[in-house]
Amino acid sequence: MPLKVANNLTELIGNTPVVLIPSLSRLTDCEIYLKCENLNPGGSIKDRAALQMVLDALEEGKLKKGMTIVEGTAGNTGIGLAIVAKAFGLGLLAVMPSDQAKEKERMIALHGGELKLVEACAFSNPNHFYHTARRIAEENPREFWWVNQFENLSNFKAHYSRTGPEIFEQMQGQLDCLVASAGTGGTIAGSSVYLKEKIPNIKVFLVDPEGSGMCSYIHTGKFEKTGSSLTEGIGIMRLVANFQKAKIDDAFTLSDQDVVMISQYVRDQDGIVLGSSSALNVAGALKVAVCHGPKKRILTFNCDLGERSYSKLYNSDYLKTRHLDITLTDVQPLIAKYSEDQKPKIAKPTQPTPSYH
Ligand SMILES: Cc1ncc(COP(=O)(O)O)c(C=O)c1O
Repeated sequence: MPLKVANNLTELIGNTPVVLIPSLSRLTDCEIYLKCENLNPGGSIKDRAALQMVLDALEEGKLKKGMTIVEGTAGNTGIGLAIVAKAFGLGLLAVMPSDQAKEKERMIALHGGELKLVEACAFSNPNHFYHTARRIAEENPREFWWVNQFENLSNFKAHYSRTGPEIFEQMQGQLDCLVASAGTGGTIAGSSVYLKEKIPNIKVFLVDPEGSGMCSYIHTGKFEKTGSSLTEGIGIMRLVANFQKAKIDDAFTLSDQDVVMISQYVRDQDGIVLGSSSALNVAGALKVAVCHGPKKRILTFNCDLGERSYSKLYNSDYLKTRHLDITLTDVQPLIAKYSEDQKPKIAKPTQPTPSYH
């Protein structure tokens, strides 16, 4: 295809490449692929949703020239929105919890977005970043338009109309499994619905971090969690409209220790520096390869730039505070653990076994 010139940064959103992860593919006799969403202009997959949500709001007249976009964000949506806002002559106010990586705060500011930091707190707290953003728009609806990425189905549309079709084309229709974590669920929902229409036999897996209730929701219909995670932008404890649309065959939770291990392994072996949610995705893809391989073609997402995880995932002092071991660099025990998980558990007999001696 001839190389073209883009008229502004938003035209560079999407059409991201796909790359094989050679090391893990060799180890599992599968083909494990990464869709490089880190190569979007804002450095993350959230550029796609940001663009679609703003385009639809402009078209529907909810968002007009001179207004300011307001959104609660863990950071990546804020960066995407800052780029899109600039391209359309709009303002952006990003409301972020103060415990997210400083790298993302800096990028929102560099792209001209205004930042409002709030203390990280439970969703039930009215000061939660989500409620703060909503309140700002409710109090001044002429000035602000609230994006609401969790319930706004333009987010789903971004992935149904573009991410899914791109994957189908790049994989030439040959894909056995899709693996993804979820924040709003826009990515897994839009991609899974599109790909299942095109490849009815494809299996879709949700990989959840500790501290998130999505996996338990898939299995039991209830949001329950254990622990917490260093990953950012993923995991949730309530059912939102975007996630609700996802077509998921199975879900599992993986630990931060797996995230740390796999990020080091893939960096050392393949030169790919993953962010924390992407490392969880890749660990998930490895587990699917171990449990459903060999000879499967599996795709997951490289959600954002690895340097956005520099102060946490790649900071040994921080990892120590979370009791994570950076010396575990051999992937074989992880593979053995994943293959053990797959074996049917032997049910304990409810009655004592009679003995006949
Ligand atoms: C780094 C990262 N990975 C994954 C996701 C999840 O994407 P989605 O909201 O489409 O579920 C997000 C969302 O903010 C994110 O920031």
